[in-house]
Amino acid sequence: MDQFESILGNLENKTILITGATGFVEKVLVEKILRVQPNVKKLYLLLRASDANSATHRMHNEITGKELFKIVREKWAANFDSFISEKVVALSGDVTLKDLGVKEIKVKEELFNGIQIIINSSANTKWDERYDVALEVNTFGVLNMLDFAKKCLNLEMVVHMSTAYVTGDRAGLILEDSSSMDEMARKTTHDIDLKEHEKKMVECKLKELQAQDVSEEVITNTMKDFGTSRAKLYGWENTYLLTKVMGEMYLGHSKGNLSVAVIRPTMITSTYKEPFSGWIEGFRLYDSLIGSYWKGKLTCIPVDPMSVVDVIPVDMVVNSIITAMVVNANTSRKIIYHVGTSLRNPLKFSDFNKFMFQYCTKNPWIYNDGRPVKVGKLKMVTTMAAFRWYMQPLQGLKSLNKEFDQCFPDVCLNDDWKDKSVIRLIELYERILLFKGIFDDTNSEELRRIANWSYIDAENFNFNPKCIDWEDYYIHSHIPGLAKNVIFKHSQSRL
Ligand SMILES: NC(=O)c1ccc[n+]([C@@H]2O[C@H](COP(=O)([O-])OP(=O)(O)OC[C@H]3O[C@@H](n4cnc5c(N)ncnc54)[C@H](OP(=O)(O)O)[C@@H]3O)[C@@H](O)[C@H]2O)c1
Repeated sequence: MDQFESILGNLENKTILITGATGFVEKVLVEKILRVQPNVKKLYLLLRASDANSATHRMHNEITGKELFKIVREKWAANFDSFISEKVVALSGDVTLKDLGVKEIKVKEELFNGIQIIINSSANTKWDERYDVALEVNTFGVLNMLDFAKKCLNLEMVVHMSTAYVTGDRAGLILEDSSSMDEMARKTTHDIDLKEHEKKMVECKLKELQAQDVSEEVITNTMKDFGTSRAKLYGWENTYLLTKVMGEMYLGHSKGNLSVAVIRPTMITSTYKEPFSGWIEGFRLYDSLIGSYWKGKLTCIPVDPMSVVDVIPVDMVVNSIITAMVVNANTSRKIIYHVGTSLRNPLKFSDFNKFMFQYCTKNPWIYNDGRPVKVGKLKMVTTMAAFRWYMQPLQGLKSLNKEFDQCFPDVCLNDDWKDKSVIRLIELYERILLFKGIFDDTNSEELRRIANWSYIDAENFNFNPKCIDWEDYYIHSHIPGLAKNVIFKHSQSRL
């Protein structure tokens, strides 16, 4: 490798298969590649759809038709559609099926001969999904992808999207290794194949339910609870994490000679800079908190003010994916990258609280009757018990307020407390809020060092967390972007 290589040069003429392209992260990846390297040969996007036409329809509606693509659209103007049809192919498929559900022999041959890079981002990201569903996608889906990869004759690299939280609920510095998976393997009997064992457990449970002739609703709820109990049995908080852990674990066991980069992001948030700042889709953990706080529903939270909010903008995650795939191509090793901010640019919860307060005071949420919602700084308590205790008097005050005609006007008590949605939200995210780990990113730092040394354009693929000015990001980019793209869209009525 000479010092004048470029990352863009490496992307030129490449054929890349992407799974999970309708998801939040991969949309940003597809946009970036098409914007910066129009001479990429082909992007194959594997989408769940009944046939190629419906896959293409999904691609236009859910990916290239989004505002996210406005810069690429402006650049190509009238030629945008022909550019997209020339460069992007929507494949109907499903990672839970053999050969990723690609049926036509001619298409399969084209893929097996052409694909050089596979980026596997497909996942079921619901924390409390049915165990059978999550297991098929997050564990067996990874193995199907791997089988497919082994049939690709010119494959240089597989990039697999995992999550930093597969490392388990730990305190202190958490290394970029597989120790949590090794620990889980030790907990099971010696030569047991955990994934097959879990699959059998799922099949037995489903048979048992069918024999009882219960409704679909009962089956769904039971399979959700079953996932949670299996996760807890192995020491994980939820079904999502257990199934992601098994996916990553068996990827490591079965990769053979393939070059594999495992990207473990922390919590991914709106774009930092590219293609423009503040673009986001859907509520992510801390964003649900921002939404509830802004509307005056969330007044207290169980968190240590000095604990770290480990979030990372999605365009930085995308830059890490591209850099990892270029640097590690054809090496036949497996390497794990933590992509987060807690080590190099920690954002303390107390600062996050301050930024929310600043923004929501300057731009108050407006009740339907035109009154602004007045927020105070979030009360931070350090345990769930304290949080529950704090919530109770508020319920009491609310009844008193009703009875005595709003005698406590400064206590924000609106009717939304009735559904206890905020308490449920906090209970769901309890472990993350009370999490005390810091993600080491030595491998990611080394990746940045290699990229800066070896590629003249590495700065265009920046994922250095030190660059982020948190105050500027939250006040001028993230919260306004969240408001525009998510909160206002999801709020049919403004209180
Ligand atoms: N977002 C985060 O904060 C975060 C943090 C750490 C790690 N990650 C990891 O990063 C990756 C991307 O996350 P994300 O937030 O972009 O996820 P997302 O928005 O939930 O998207 C998931 C994608 O997977 C696809 N998918 C689900 N089941 C599939 C199947 N059986 N076959 C093919 N595709 C399937 C979905 O397709 P449909 O549209 O058809 O449902 C969707 O495109 C995931 O692996 C996730 O675990 C995310």
